[in-house]
Amino acid sequence: MRRLAVVAAALLGLAAGGAGAQSLVGAREWLPAGSLSLDALSQRPAERLEDGRNFYVAFGRLAFRSPDILGGTARKAGLSCQACHASGFATHAFFIPGLSDRPGRIDVSNAFWHLRGEDGIDNPLEIPSLRGVKTKDRFGHDARTASLRDFTRRVIVMEFAGDEPDALLLDALVAYQEKLQPAIETPQPVTLRQDLADILDHLDTLRVPLGEENPALASRLVTMIRGQLGFIHERFADENMRGSRATLEEWSRQLVGIAELAENGQWPQARQHLAALRGAIAAPPPAFAADLPRSLYDGPRLAAWLNTPVR
Ligand code: HEC
Repeated sequence: MRRLAVVAAALLGLAAGGAGAQSLVGAREWLPAGSLSLDALSQRPAERLEDGRNFYVAFGRLAFRSPDILGGTARKAGLSCQACHASGFATHAFFIPGLSDRPGRIDVSNAFWHLRGEDGIDNPLEIPSLRGVKTKDRFGHDARTASLRDFTRRVIVMEFAGDEPDALLLDALVAYQEKLQPAIETPQPVTLRQDLADILDHLDTLRVPLGEENPALASRLVTMIRGQLGFIHERFADENMRGSRATLEEWSRQLVGIAELAENGQWPQARQHLAALRGAIAAPPPAFAADLPRSLYDGPRLAAWLNTPVR
C-alpha cells in the first residue's frame, strides 16, 4: 500500500512535493504510528514577521515550508522546517515515537533522518523557537555554530540529508528567519482560507522570476508551490470531494503550464496565465465551501482520520 499511495501521489504530482507546511499522507506513510499530533496539525501560531519583505524573505518563507529542500525520511514524510518550527516558534506537540522522549523534543542526529548523521547517542533535543534568531551569535544547544547561514546549511545537508543548498536558497532561508521577530505565541486554527492566502502570496513571489525572465527559478518556485497545493489537496481526502480535488489538480496543472511557457521563453503569456490563476484562486469555486465541513480542516474529522490505521 505504501508504494501504491506514493505512486498515486506522484501521478497527481501533488503530495510527493511539499504543504500548509505539513503532509498528512506522507507523515502517516513514513513516520511510526503515533507520530502525528492533532494539535500540531490543526493549529499553528500567528506568524508576525518584521516589516520589510522582499523576494528573499518571500522565497525563504516558501522554502521553509517545502520538504523538497530536505532529503531522506523528512522529505518522504513531507516534513519541512515549518513542521518543527511552526511559524518560527517551536512546535511543542511535535513527537515521533523512538526519537522523542517527550513532545517538543526530537533526536535530529539519528539514522532515521540520515545514515551519515547518526551519532550513536539517543539524544533528543528541545526544538527551539527561532524567534529573535537574528540577534543571536551562537546557534545550537552546544553553541557550536557562529553563523545562521552555516547552521541552516548543516540542518539541510547533515541532519536531513538534503542536497547541498545553493547561495540563493541559503540567502532566502536566512532572510526569512531574520524576519522572525520575537512575538507572543498566539495559536490559530489551520484553515483553508489561510492556506489559500498563502498560495496567493507564493504566486506573487513567482512574479519575480517571470519578470526577470529566469526559467530555472520559475520552475523551482512552481515545484514548491505545487507542493503547497498538494498539502491542501490532502485535506480534501474523500474521493467524493471531486469538485474541490479537481480544482486543486487543475490549479497545479496550470502552474506546470506557466513553468512550460517560461521554459519556452513565452514570457508575456506566462505572466498572463499567472495573473489568471491568481484571480481564480482569489475567488475559489463554491465546491470548497460545500466540502469544507467534511474535509480534514475540520478538527473532529482530522482526529478520526489520524486514528484510522494505514491500510
Ligand atoms: C524534525 C524537527 C526539525 C526540523 C524538520 C528542523 N529543525 Fe531546526 N531544530 C530542531 C532541533 C531539535 C533543534 C535543536 C538542535 C541543536 O540544538 O543542536 C533545531 C535548531 C535549529 C536552529 C538553531 C536555533 C538556535 O537558537 O540555536 C535553527 C536556526 C534551525 N533549527 C533552523 C531550521 C531550518 C532552517 C530548518 C529547515 C531547513 C529546520 N530547522 C528544520 C528541529 C528541527
